[in-house]
Amino acid sequence: MIPILLTRAARPAAYQRAFLAARTLSVWAGIKAGPPDPILGVTEAFKRDTDARKINLGVGAYRDGEGAPYVLPSVLEADKRVLEQDLDKEYLPITGHSTFEQLAAQLAYGADSAPLKEDRIATTQSISGTGALRIAGEFLARHFPHNKTIYLPTPSWGNHTPIFRNSGLEVKQYAYYDKNTVGLDLEGMLRDIQAAPSKSIILLHACAHNPTGVDPTQEQWKRISDVIKEKEHFVLFDMAYQGFASGDADRDAFALRYFVEQGHQIALAQSFAKNMGLYGERVGLFSLVTDSPDERTRVSSQLKITIRPMYSNPPVHGARIASTILEDPALRKQWLGEVKGMADRINSMRAKLKGLLVNEFGSKHNWDHITNQIGMFAFLGITPEQVEQLVNEHHVYLTKDGRISVAGITEHNVRHLAESLHKVTA
Ligand code: LMR
Repeated sequence: MIPILLTRAARPAAYQRAFLAARTLSVWAGIKAGPPDPILGVTEAFKRDTDARKINLGVGAYRDGEGAPYVLPSVLEADKRVLEQDLDKEYLPITGHSTFEQLAAQLAYGADSAPLKEDRIATTQSISGTGALRIAGEFLARHFPHNKTIYLPTPSWGNHTPIFRNSGLEVKQYAYYDKNTVGLDLEGMLRDIQAAPSKSIILLHACAHNPTGVDPTQEQWKRISDVIKEKEHFVLFDMAYQGFASGDADRDAFALRYFVEQGHQIALAQSFAKNMGLYGERVGLFSLVTDSPDERTRVSSQLKITIRPMYSNPPVHGARIASTILEDPALRKQWLGEVKGMADRINSMRAKLKGLLVNEFGSKHNWDHITNQIGMFAFLGITPEQVEQLVNEHHVYLTKDGRISVAGITEHNVRHLAESLHKVTA
């Protein structure tokens, strides 16, 4: 009760006390804490650990031989050139930086690509690969005229399912990884793609499959293309690691270019986080192959309508860096060499890890998959309990599915990693 006889000055405080007493619950009192992100949460746990031996092999982010984040020399040079131009910070168009769009599409599809030359590819800059996938999800949920179900490989990148569900697509799976061979389950994959209702959406990792590091061979891609064509499915390629699988950006684009040549009307999500090391700059591209320039114009207009309410237009600086690299032949060549350098260091760490496990620690397990798999990750084929032991007893941080980012291994930490892995699997 508020006393009725109050001096004028005392009134506000009394009213405030009464209001606070009447307010029983905070607006957010009922909110439940959600689980940490399966990938980025690993970094949070790693940062809390004070042990000197700790190793973070969770997130897929390249580290140099000393375990430090790596800014590519070509990126530093491009950054310098961009800053020297003293450019303004005006908004980009909704679909982003047009030179970047053209050059990024050319990097993926190839300079000789027929739909590119015929002006049939609709493109838009995106907030890295995640943003490109989200645009894909939103666009397909609104405009895909057939079965609005997207089929993902089992397993797939942990963020795929929430991206497409939040976009309004139904998410289902197809077989991909065979845990007995620690390799590709091609027959299971073809069987599931065949069994999906025709004209469904199939997500394919273009190269360096995340998390398994297991890719189809070129002959296997041809069989996959045939089945998808027969079922008239629509393919969305996720290409987050162009250059990282083989060290050669053209070779890594094989599947995408083959499918386009075969007449599939594909969509593509590209990221420049890994191959240019532009993680925090958020540089990517979403593109769609259409049937004619007129169709491309219509699709582009709908892409703009999809994007504008989400974030209006993308950030400018990273796109300027990427286009500076891609448009200068000398700088582009330097960059491709640097990508190969990163891929080579990763491969040498794969060999070193396997060598230590087998020769030094005498592990009796077959670790061939460590060197057979490609890209940034190795899928160890260990149990969740063994993962827990690695984290809790050995301070080796990785995702629960047993994936390690090989890019985080160095000459300094590989011995501790091999010994720990041997101990938990012995
Ligand atoms: C990963 O899989 O570790 C990367 O793609 C980073 C991320 O955002 O999950």
